[in-house]
Amino acid sequence: MNTKSDAPSSSKEFDKVYSSAFLHWLWGDTRIPKELQDLVANNHPKTSLELGCGLGRFSSFMAEQGIKATGIDFSGVAIEKARKRIEDSLQKPSLLVGDVTNLAMLKEPFDVAFDIGCFHCLNEVDQQKYEQEVYRLLKPGATLLIWALNHAPIGIKLNPDYMARVFSASFHLKKSAFSRRRIIGSHWYWLVRKD
Ligand SMILES: C[S@@+](CC[C@H](N)C(=O)[O-])C[C@H]1O[C@@H](n2cnc3c(N)ncnc32)[C@H](O)[C@@H]1O
Repeated sequence: MNTKSDAPSSSKEFDKVYSSAFLHWLWGDTRIPKELQDLVANNHPKTSLELGCGLGRFSSFMAEQGIKATGIDFSGVAIEKARKRIEDSLQKPSLLVGDVTNLAMLKEPFDVAFDIGCFHCLNEVDQQKYEQEVYRLLKPGATLLIWALNHAPIGIKLNPDYMARVFSASFHLKKSAFSRRRIIGSHWYWLVRKD
């Protein structure tokens, strides 16, 4: 049965979490996942898009690799904090306030996209909008890497069959891997944009 927790889901709720000094400590695993490092090593992207970038640490990593990196998050508080953090960096990502279900402000197709903990915040309707937006913004054959909890905070159970179905119109699920990145069960998903 799908049961919704009281985890944040709106931009206002996320703003509140990001305004607190310690409430988002759970997302504080800032080590760069090997899966993200491999995304760079295997695809040699010139451009990257991060969905739900939060404090922007993973997009900063991409920028440090010489990639033109863009990160999007609908929490204005998170983006403000992220921009402050990178003020003195030489290789900065572009960090924007925006909703991953409507990215009309972005036009340029990206070489890769990734999402570490945002997709599992979306309800079913928003998952479909996300799928269409990421399809529009990725080049044919490009990879979308997603890390998501098996028991999404929004109350939906995610697994490889579910993800393959949500993305079936425009992506194929090339690979998935069980993960204990946040101790509780989760998966990495490698989705490839169809032509
Ligand atoms: C669990 S946090 C992960 C943040 C970051 N990826 C990390 O690992 O530190 C999920 C992020 O997704 C963002 N988010 C959730 N729904 C979103 C939406 N519809 N549009 C844009 N960002 C969203 C939240 O504001 C939050 O920053």
